[in-house]
Amino acid sequence: MSPMSSPIVALFLTFFLLLSAADAFNITKILSSFSDYSTFNDLLTQTGVASEINDKKSVTVLVVSNSQISGLSSQPKDTIKKMLSIHVVLDYYDKAKVDKVPSKPLTLTTLYQQSGKAQNQQGFLTMTRVGKQVSFGSAAPGSSHDSIFVKQVTTQPYDISVLEISNVINVAITSSPSYAPNASPPRKALAPGPNKSPLASPPKTTRSDIPAADAPSTTTDSDAPDNTSAASIASASAILFIFASACFMLTMI
Ligand SMILES: *[C@@H]1O[C@H](CO)[C@@H](O)[C@H](O)[C@H]1NC(C)=O
Repeated sequence: MSPMSSPIVALFLTFFLLLSAADAFNITKILSSFSDYSTFNDLLTQTGVASEINDKKSVTVLVVSNSQISGLSSQPKDTIKKMLSIHVVLDYYDKAKVDKVPSKPLTLTTLYQQSGKAQNQQGFLTMTRVGKQVSFGSAAPGSSHDSIFVKQVTTQPYDISVLEISNVINVAITSSPSYAPNASPPRKALAPGPNKSPLASPPKTTRSDIPAADAPSTTTDSDAPDNTSAASIASASAILFIFASACFMLTMI
């Protein structure tokens, strides 16, 4: 048993490191230190976009100061959520990276693209250098590109970067009532599913079962108090056996 335990321990450590990495930052907490963005922060919380940001590994949030966001606050919640999702870039860009942006427009993927609702390039931004300035705009045709990079607010390399832009990014509203619902659901289902469930469930069940798993051969014979505990010990040993076999097979490769 003992030669087996170290790979198993390593396996569980890996699981917990992966789990804790997913919660490495909290955008609500980060923005709470900057009163200029309190409205943006409140809207992130109200729409649930904040928790979606926290689930990402490498992300850039383009924030707008309170004085520039009043127009957005009065919109319906769905619209606010969409607009905020467009301000979340699924990659890490700090000031150093923004400074190196070439004059050729760079396409960025946003959180809105992952919602499966984006049409006509609405899920993408372009970042463009215009002289000494860098502007952000929607990649959707007809959108204006007048959101100018103001400053780096804060970063946690290379997990999250918060950049201030001059104003809310405009997205051209293209009305297409006959939009195909078939195209979006698979993408939507893909995004949150496989990221979380396989990681989240196994460590929870197996961790609590480990201490019990060493005991079964001695305790089950003497007295089996009730069926449920015997069953759980049996399933615990089954899980441990599967893990041990997996580890053993790995060492054979
Ligand atoms: C994030 O931080 C806020 C403010 O400190 C807190 O209310 C919230 O519970 C935190 N969220 C998580 C997921 O820890």
